[in-house]
Parts: sequence; C-alpha cells; structure tokens
Amino acid sequence: MYDFKIATSETSTLYRDLASALEGLVAGEPDPVANMANAAALIFESLPDVNWVGFYRNVGDELVVGPFQGRPACIRIAFGEGVCGTAAETRKVQRIADVHAFPGHIACDSASNSEIVVPLVRDGELLGVLDIDSPKLGRFSEDDEAGCVKLGEILAKVL
Ligand code: SME
Repeated sequence: MYDFKIATSETSTLYRDLASALEGLVAGEPDPVANMANAAALIFESLPDVNWVGFYRNVGDELVVGPFQGRPACIRIAFGEGVCGTAAETRKVQRIADVHAFPGHIACDSASNSEIVVPLVRDGELLGVLDIDSPKLGRFSEDDEAGCVKLGEILAKVL
C-alpha cells in the first residue's frame, strides 16, 4: 500500500515532497494509464482546495479525457478550445485565476473557479496536459506553477 501523507506546509516544501512521492510512485512502471491514475490520486489527495485533478491525452490532435479524480468531465476538447485546449495548442502553462473570465472556458464542474493546466511534452511531442481545478478564486500561485511544472516533467517521462 502506498501511504503518502504529505503535511501541508509551505508551498515549495509541499511540492518538493509531492514530486518525490510521485517519482517513487511511477518508478519502474511503464504503463501510462497506471501512472496517470496514481498521479491524479496522489495530487488530488495532497493539494488543498482542489476539486478536479486529471489528464487530457493528445489523441490524434484532439484532447481526450484520461485518468482523473473529481466529477465526470467533458470527454473531448479541441486544440485551442478552453483552458486545456489553449495549453495544448500553445504548449504553455495556463494559470487562470478566474476561469469565468477566460474566453471559451469549458465548465465541467460548476464548483471550479480557478485552474492550472500544464502541457506534457516529451522529445518535442505533446503527450497531453495535466489539469488541476480549484473552487477557490486565484488558488494557484507562481510557486504552484513551478511545482506543477516539475510534476509535469516527472510525468512526461513515464507516459
Ligand atoms: N475547464 C477545462 C475543461 C476541463 S475540466 O476543467 C475538467 C477547460 O476549459 O479546458
């Protein structure tokens, strides 16, 4: 049994512990679905104030929902559409303080108010995105972004 209990503390310490737990969880496992499923569960359990954590995979230049924790979500998202599609198209992290102010935001869970989406790229190929939603406005700081980018780097190697 994996029993990671990360004490909520300073943000950079939290992400350092989370990155180390994630590395341990995916070590030696080549199956991408298994790794996405465990990563979604670990991040969902570890970060305070999040209501959806999961993956959209690049399937033929369309995003298709992958393993996640939270309420059932929209299945397919076109590149350029919503926060996830924008992250996929631009390959840039989208850190959105108020999703309702984001043009084309796709509301999967009406509880979500802020969101961060990290593109997952390996050897120049977009594998998909890691999407984290929060019911709190402005939930994700620059430190959260740095931490989530690190998680994305770990994940891109094992998807
Ligand atoms: N809000 C996202 C859609 C995915 S859900 O948040 C799980 C978007 O605008 O792309």
